[in-house]
Amino acid sequence: MRHQPIKNKLFIENRKRLAKLLAPKSLAVLNANDVLPTNADGTLVMQPNADLFFLSGIEQEESILLIFPEAAEEKNREILFLREPNDHLKIWEGHKHTKAEAKKISGIKNVQWLSAFPMMFRALMCEAEAAYLNSNEHKRAVVEVETRDARFTRQCRRDFPLHDYRRLAPLLHQLRVVKTNLELELLKEAVDITGRGFRRLLRFVKPGVTEYEVEAELAREFIRRRGKFAYTPIVAAGKNNCVLHYLQNDQTCRKGQLLLLDVGSSYANYNADMTRTIPVSGRFSRRQKNVYNAVLRVLRSSIAGATVGKLHKEWTREAQTHMNEELLKLGLLKPSQVKRQDPDKPACRKYFMHGLGHPLGLDVHDVGDANIPFAAGTVLTVEPGIYLPDEGFGIRLEDDIVVTEDGPVNLMDKIPIEPDEIESIMNR
Ligand code: GLY
Ligand code: MN
Ligand code: MN
Repeated sequence: MRHQPIKNKLFIENRKRLAKLLAPKSLAVLNANDVLPTNADGTLVMQPNADLFFLSGIEQEESILLIFPEAAEEKNREILFLREPNDHLKIWEGHKHTKAEAKKISGIKNVQWLSAFPMMFRALMCEAEAAYLNSNEHKRAVVEVETRDARFTRQCRRDFPLHDYRRLAPLLHQLRVVKTNLELELLKEAVDITGRGFRRLLRFVKPGVTEYEVEAELAREFIRRRGKFAYTPIVAAGKNNCVLHYLQNDQTCRKGQLLLLDVGSSYANYNADMTRTIPVSGRFSRRQKNVYNAVLRVLRSSIAGATVGKLHKEWTREAQTHMNEELLKLGLLKPSQVKRQDPDKPACRKYFMHGLGHPLGLDVHDVGDANIPFAAGTVLTVEPGIYLPDEGFGIRLEDDIVVTEDGPVNLMDKIPIEPDEIESIMNR
């Protein structure tokens, strides 16, 4: 693992939180993600399963976690199953966790090799009434391949058809949306790495550099600090500012253009998600600055508006009302357009057509039910934008915040965002 060791209290606490939500006499099983194939004998780098990590800190392929809070024997209440290391694996793939290492990472005392799973699982199923199995229930997920969890569910239902089966995902969503202090520490590290990357870019960007050179600078800064890209970075110059999911990063940055950077580092699987929009030549034009400041004001009012008890829908409505006002001031909307607007399709959507923000954590678009009001510990991105393809530019600004009882806390308040500060650093 590239990241520093994590206090296993984080995972122990999370398992305790989950155990409290499980029905009597039930167990829960979580599987690692698959190593996905590409072409020929190629594979993608495995993305650790976020739920398995959340409950155990384990990132190794093929691992299985079993939680059974009411198991008759105390040693069976938490069991971790791992690939057994052997000489062949050692030569080809290197080191795999020993039992002692896995115990230290997870705080789970009972660590077994995978070969023990079938027998032990059968014995414990015979003791249990219900099994909670995991699945990807993110509202916007498109899952075309069968995951390890899905294969396990199929097998389990075949082998034990008379058990009561339950969905683990809603419970995990409920827990994961509220971050513990130990999780916030890791998120802050991801934010810090992201900020350092951005500061490097402020000194690097000038007319003539390419979007991919900018990406390379970021990679250098993220990786040397034990991070990695949290998602494919969007490095978009000029009219590409307006392509919401621009991923080509193959153009040259020109004088007078803006460069939109939607980039974030992850650290220890926790993700930052930041957007800044900077002038390629180090100075905003008057028009660019006016639009920039309008977006910045919506960002700030939306951060302030992310309070405990508010629904995502209300929060977005407030931002859209503010955005309408800003667009009127910029002469981009007419009062009649706002007056006649369909409340479900506010006038600002012509220029600000995406969501205001999303939960953030072990996934960039993190799990969490949007119909449940913000609770203390909710981490959100706030990302208003105004896109003007006819004028050849667009602006998005994105910060990461934590909702607390004492009001929102901006995790990115040290990352330059004021246009004057950006210009001043770029021209140093
Ligand atoms: N970078 C993805 C997003 O902002 O949602
Ligand atoms: Mn983003
Ligand atoms: Mn985002």
